Amino acid sequence: MSGIAKKQPASAKRSGALSGHMRVPGDKSISHRALILAACATGTSRVSGLLEGDDVLATANAMRAMGAEIDRIENGDWQITGVGPMGLKSPSAPLDFGNAGTGARLVMGLVAGAGINASFTGDASLSSRPMGRVLDPLRQMGAQADAADGARLPVHMKAARLMPATLTPDVASAQVKSAILLAGLGIAGDISVREKTPTRGHSETMLALFGADISIGAADGFHCVSLHNQHGPTRLKAVDLDVPGDPSSAAFPIIAALTVPGSDVVLENVMLNRQRDGLIRVLRDMGGAIEVMNERRASGETCADLRVKYAPLHGIEVSAEMAPDMIDEFPALAIAAASAQGITHMAGLAELRVKESDRLAAIAAGLTANGVAVETGADWLRVTGSPIEGSPIAGTGIKGGGIVETHHDHRIAMAFLCLGLVANHPVTVDDRAMIATSFPEFFDVMAGLGAQID
Ligand code: S3P
Repeated sequence: MSGIAKKQPASAKRSGALSGHMRVPGDKSISHRALILAACATGTSRVSGLLEGDDVLATANAMRAMGAEIDRIENGDWQITGVGPMGLKSPSAPLDFGNAGTGARLVMGLVAGAGINASFTGDASLSSRPMGRVLDPLRQMGAQADAADGARLPVHMKAARLMPATLTPDVASAQVKSAILLAGLGIAGDISVREKTPTRGHSETMLALFGADISIGAADGFHCVSLHNQHGPTRLKAVDLDVPGDPSSAAFPIIAALTVPGSDVVLENVMLNRQRDGLIRVLRDMGGAIEVMNERRASGETCADLRVKYAPLHGIEVSAEMAPDMIDEFPALAIAAASAQGITHMAGLAELRVKESDRLAAIAAGLTANGVAVETGADWLRVTGSPIEGSPIAGTGIKGGGIVETHHDHRIAMAFLCLGLVANHPVTVDDRAMIATSFPEFFDVMAGLGAQID
């Protein structure tokens, strides 16, 4: 998984109206958490709609290596028999998380609290990402961890006894919050995380579904999440889960439908969560026509079908406060901004520098290579749009014709393939391989809507 593979380029070209119904794969954040918690529970859980992308499969392998039984059964559901409280065993080989930051960071927390030894490795992209944000709070709880220079992978964790704590992470990060809560599963006493800005709450929602005693509240201006554990390690009980569709994968067909003239697309079963729906709110403010239909609940989350129709977009200011609610969606938003009328300014983007790639730099370079006017600063991005021919506010359109470096980043690859659908000349991405980490069906789904990508 961590070897150097030959790059596989892909190109997208100007396409006619997109139409049809489609489903996005299961949510990546929920899928990681479902495997991790089911693997720690007593009994057998069944999970339907699990994302079968490389990132999630890496987490499945890691949980198997620590003793859980995980199988894909005939109807496509997943069956996980957990090890019970404190039943995880030290894996005999390093846990290889490939490209998966969420899997690596959450499992580091779990391992720290489980009193076992484990080493963590990953691919070139994951090995360049900071792990100190997770290791520092875990060390404050008593964890013993060594990391490579700059707090990078490989990380080696040694069995240690963790203590109850209240922690206030410096970064707004659901991965950090989740690692702390998962470490707390092995502790006798309470673990609390205080967040200045609430981040996606999937861990706390799912911990409660598995029977953990979780409280969520506000104090001293912080959003507080606590795991209560007076009587020793948390006892999780197996449950059946239905993973809703991933809004971060839905972002790509959504912006494609909004920007390709004449499009009308229905995306079925997309999760709607206040800390994940920032892109939809911003696109609506830009003039996007996104209708929410058949709202319902699945596994503690809201999901719905979305009908998205082409609409001429206009640029807006996207405030820094929006960033945590759409942190993975800026590559998609930047592409929508490229075909909007006027300027879109996005603030509060420092975290984009430490995602699967330096996304601010990758977005700016990709847009520049395709003739789109863009400026960046340390934590902001400004895109000057150029509406395409055939739109009611026709401009000169997006030049295209460029080759985009994806830097092992699935979202950069998908975003720029969407740019190609509205550009005057085809847009090429240097490598499509990483798309399989989060959206293995991307090419088939987009072709089914009429997008010309190959
Ligand atoms: C995730 C949290 C986010 C997000 C990542 C998934 C999660 O990272 O970018 O793709 O599942 O908790 P941060 O928590 O570091 O912002």
